[in-house]
This record gives sequence, C-alpha cells and structure tokens, in this order.
Amino acid sequence: MKSEEIRQVFLNYFKSKNHEIVPSAPMVMKNDPTLMFTNAGMNQFKDLFLGNSPIKYNRIADTQKCLRVSGKHNDLEEVGVDTYHHTMFEMLGNWSFGDYFKEEAIDWAWDLLVNEFKINKENLYATVFEGDKKDGTNEDSEAYEQWKKYLPEDRILKCNKKDNFWEMGDTGPCGPSSEIHVDIRSDDEKKKVDGSTLVNVDHPHVIEIWNLVFIQYNRLSSGKLEPLPAKHVDTGMGFERLCMVLQNKKSNYDTDVFAPLINHVQNVSGKKFGQNEETDIAIRVMVDHIRAIAFSIADGQLPSNNKAGYVIRRILRRAVRYSYTYLDVKEPILFSMVPVLAKQMQNAFPELKAQEDLITKVIQEEESSFLKTLETGLKKFENYKEKEVKGEFAFELYDTYGFPIDLTQLIAKEKGKSVDMDAFHAEMKKQKDRSRKAAASDTGDWIEVNKGDESEFVGYNVLECEAKILKYRKVTVGKKDQFQIVLNKTPFYAESGGQVGDTGYLELGGTKIEIIDTQKENNLFIHFAKKVPGELNGNAKAVVNKNKRNHTIKNHSVTHLLHSALKKVLGDHVAQKGSLVNEHHTRFDFSHFEKVTDEQLTEIEKIVNSKIQENIAIDEQRSVPIDKAMAQGATALFGEKYGDNVRVIT
Ligand code: SER
Repeated sequence: MKSEEIRQVFLNYFKSKNHEIVPSAPMVMKNDPTLMFTNAGMNQFKDLFLGNSPIKYNRIADTQKCLRVSGKHNDLEEVGVDTYHHTMFEMLGNWSFGDYFKEEAIDWAWDLLVNEFKINKENLYATVFEGDKKDGTNEDSEAYEQWKKYLPEDRILKCNKKDNFWEMGDTGPCGPSSEIHVDIRSDDEKKKVDGSTLVNVDHPHVIEIWNLVFIQYNRLSSGKLEPLPAKHVDTGMGFERLCMVLQNKKSNYDTDVFAPLINHVQNVSGKKFGQNEETDIAIRVMVDHIRAIAFSIADGQLPSNNKAGYVIRRILRRAVRYSYTYLDVKEPILFSMVPVLAKQMQNAFPELKAQEDLITKVIQEEESSFLKTLETGLKKFENYKEKEVKGEFAFELYDTYGFPIDLTQLIAKEKGKSVDMDAFHAEMKKQKDRSRKAAASDTGDWIEVNKGDESEFVGYNVLECEAKILKYRKVTVGKKDQFQIVLNKTPFYAESGGQVGDTGYLELGGTKIEIIDTQKENNLFIHFAKKVPGELNGNAKAVVNKNKRNHTIKNHSVTHLLHSALKKVLGDHVAQKGSLVNEHHTRFDFSHFEKVTDEQLTEIEKIVNSKIQENIAIDEQRSVPIDKAMAQGATALFGEKYGDNVRVIT
C-alpha cells in the first residue's frame, strides 16, 4: 500500500466505528503556555479531557502533524542518526471522550493491524503498565487481561512509568498506556535473539508503532495525580513507522513518504543514498528537517530569534550544517525541496501547496544568511591557535555560529587537535541553567470557588456584567506574584487575532481589583490581577475599560482595511504573518518579497483613509458555520484553529 492509502484505511476504519474524522490541528501551538508545538494528537483535545469544553463528538479520529523538538518530548538529537525518529511526523489517532475504554481500544487496534493491514500477528508484542508506588497507581490488569485474548503471555510485557505512563508535559491529562511493538527482523535474527528482550531498548527493527493511552488523571503542578471526572482513550500511531512495516522496509526513510525527497537531494547534491553512513545521516537529516520547517512556516511560524521561531531556526541550521559538511553543498539547497514536498502532500495537507512560494523564499533567505555565518565560524576556527580546542571556544562555535559539536570535533581532528568535551558540556549546562532560570515561572493549581466549567463571553454585547468567580490560581514569574481569575461570565475580550486583551476592574464585596490583562488559555478566559478580592464568593461586577476597548476595536478594523489594501496594491500573495492591535496603534506583519515603494505606500494609505471616511456600517453575523463563512468569501488565516461556528464581519 502506498502511504496515502495507508492513511485512508486508518481513517476509514475508525469512521466505520462511528468516529468523526477531523482535520489536523496546526502544528504550531497558540493559546497554550505549556507547549510551543503540538507534540501529540491529543493536544488539541486537552480541554475535552479536562472537562473545560463541552464534548460534541465522543469519538474522533484523525492524522495530526506533530513536532517533538522541545520540552518533555524531544527527539531532535536522534533524528537522522537512527532510522525511525523524526522531528515532524504524522500521528494517526483515535479518541474516546468518556465513551469506550480499554476493551474496544485494544480490540480495534488489533483488528486493524492484523485483519485490515495484515501484519503477521506472530510479530506483535504488547506492553502494559506495571504500576508505580510513588504515584500510587496500580498495575493495569484490565489491559493485560484484554491482551490475553490475542497474545500469549510471554508477548505481553509489563513496563514501568517511563515507558507506559503517558504525559504530554509536566502537568495535564495523563494515564497508563499500552503499547504495540512490532518485530520486523529476519527469521534468522529472530531465532538468535528473542524479540521480547528487544522491546523498548531502542532496537531499530523492534519498534513501538502504536500507543494506546487510557487517560484518567490530571497531573497537578504539585506532582499529584487527580482523577478526572470521566475516563478517555487517546491513541497515537506513528504513520511513518506504520508505512515502514507495511511496505516491508527496514527504515522509515525507505518508504514512499521520504523517497521523492531523497531522490531530489541525490540529484541536487550528486551524492548517493545508501553508500556511506555519514552521507546517509546527512540526507536523512535533510529530508526529515525540511518537513518540520515547511509545515511550521505554513502554520505561520517563521524562523526567528526567540521561542518557537528559534526552534525552527535551529532545525534549519542543523540541516544546513549536515549538508554543508557531509554532502559538500555550499549553496542553499533545502528551499529547492519545498515543491517536491508540497506536491507529495497536496491531498492530505494542502497548506503547503497553497503557500509554496512563501515557504520556499523564507527558507532560501534563511539558508543564505546562515551559510555566511557558518563561513565566518570556519574562518574563526582557522585563526584559532590553541593546541586543544577549549570548552569555551567549542561552545562559542556552537552557540554563536551554530556549529554542532560533532562538526567541531571533526574539524579539530583534521587539524590534529582534540576538543575538551567536559568543559564544553559544562558550558552547555551553564547556558541551560541560565535559560531555565529566565523562563522559570511557577504556576499554582487552580483553586475552585464556585462550581462550573466554562466562562461565557458576553463582551460583544456588553462591557459590564455581573459574574461569579469560578476559580483562581497564583502564578509567580521571577519575583512577582500574579493572580489569574476565571469567571462564569465575562465581558473581557481575551487577546486573540492580534487584538490585546481588555483591562478594567472587578468589584466584589466593596473592594475593587484591577484587571491588568485578559488572555485565553485553551478555552478559558483568564483575567490577570495583582491581587484577589478578600471576599471571593458572591456576585462580582466585571467592568471593562470602555475607552481603551473602543479605540482598540477601531484599530482592529483598520488592520483588515490595511490587509485588503495591501492585497490590492501588492498582490494576492500578501498574507498576514502577525499583528498587534492596541488602543494606540496597529502593527501588521505581512509576507512580500520586495521593499514596498513610496508610491505604493501612498496608494495603500489613500485606500485605507478613503474607506475610513466612507464610514461604512459594520455587518456582523454570529455563529455562522465555518464552511458557510468560507463559501461567502471570509478571509481565514493558515495555522489558526477555528471553531465550527464563527463570527463573520463584513
Ligand atoms: N498521546 C500518546 C502519544 O503521543 C498517544 O496518542 O504517544
């Protein structure tokens, strides 16, 4: 089966089991301070697990674009070196929200793998959670019993918390898991070494393909596990690994997911894949990394100097370094892979094709400028006269010039020098400690005041209302304490679409506290304050700063006039890449690859001003189904996740 067919068989199977098929969420995270990138299929459903959002479908399946390069799940250093880890990968998943549980999850996983995909059942192993004293969790005997229907007991392995208790981050929904591993070694090898001894030991041909997680707890920031109101299923199957198994390959890179990209790199670099381990690693790094980079840009995250943008920049640099050193390519090359990838993905993920031009140009630009830095670093190395490469210098090359340590070691070796690796690691550790300290924020657990799960936003109609405090928590950033408050009903607009969050006050029991910002976290509206009212129960008055909101919404309207004028004058390719709208001004970032001329600027200004002077009344429609809104010609942004119903402004 071709990879496209494999993806479809998975989705069709779960559709036949009454699952709603939904699109992948963007890979770049917005509205979740605990994650920069989607690292698992379940991220977009975090709210449903926690009970913060109403459940619309209790069974869902999809393929999700994931990226595991930061935080709790980080595979970056393995990528390219081995044949089965990736930065960006697709995770096929099926979910139950308070509906079916272990029995069906295991039955269907087995049925799909063995009866539909025809994987030889003799090659399959299952693992189950053995329990953990410290967490107070028990062995998962239900999963064990279920597997006994299909597998002999010597192929059901009990594993510890590290392997069989799944958590998306330090806090959040989690639970015991049961994994399916497959042994794709030759019969000879199987005779020599028993497959069960190779499960979970990083063997390239005895690998995990599917993780069935039984979500039943929320990990609190105190480290405690709190049972969730309902039990859920979260499964994730590595699409590229599944393709390897079904296409009888020994490496993910030998499947049709990567073949077109590898061909392209061979053609451009003149190096052959499969002949030398060093060039193979470099080629694997490139064909893997281009996917992470291209999909991130498509989702609106350009390479930059901080946070998510910096992660993308580092991935890109890693790819450039490998091609520069091991493929001897001294010119930009990654950008030329974009059309190949876009074509290959056009049915499952049309966002690449739709933005091919932008993605290509951004990557080419990044590559050119990094190649210059790389050359400067190499010159520095030329002039380095010490006998041994000191830790500080190796670190400077790493940190400032983007040299991976193995590149530094290689160049050092050519010059007959060694690298003081201990000192290098000490420098690395210092930097990690510094950045950890800078980022350290301590988020307390929610303290419930009144019952209720959701906050209703009423701020399109009114700017003040009566409300009750549902919960609050204390957050310490550096030395400063702040409080975050959730109300059952709020007129406060939470920052989104570039528009800043409302400020104002909350009055309760005779005291007024100032609200200094409003943000959305998943689906919660969070009001920031320096203190909480002494009296928390009872009815509060929530009042938005009207003057500020009024100015802000006008500037927000202007942002859209500007976007439209830019398209008219510069061309339809102009896409919004970020914006900031407050009561003073609007800032609008957009993609265009030339300097805008003075004449063009004047023309844009004229269009916007004349539209303002027309004083056109706003036409607002609420709760329009997203498909209908799109059909009406609404402008939507790539990389944004929209609800099923949207508010349309004309
Ligand atoms: N959340 C689990 C994982 O990412 C299963 O989907 O492995």
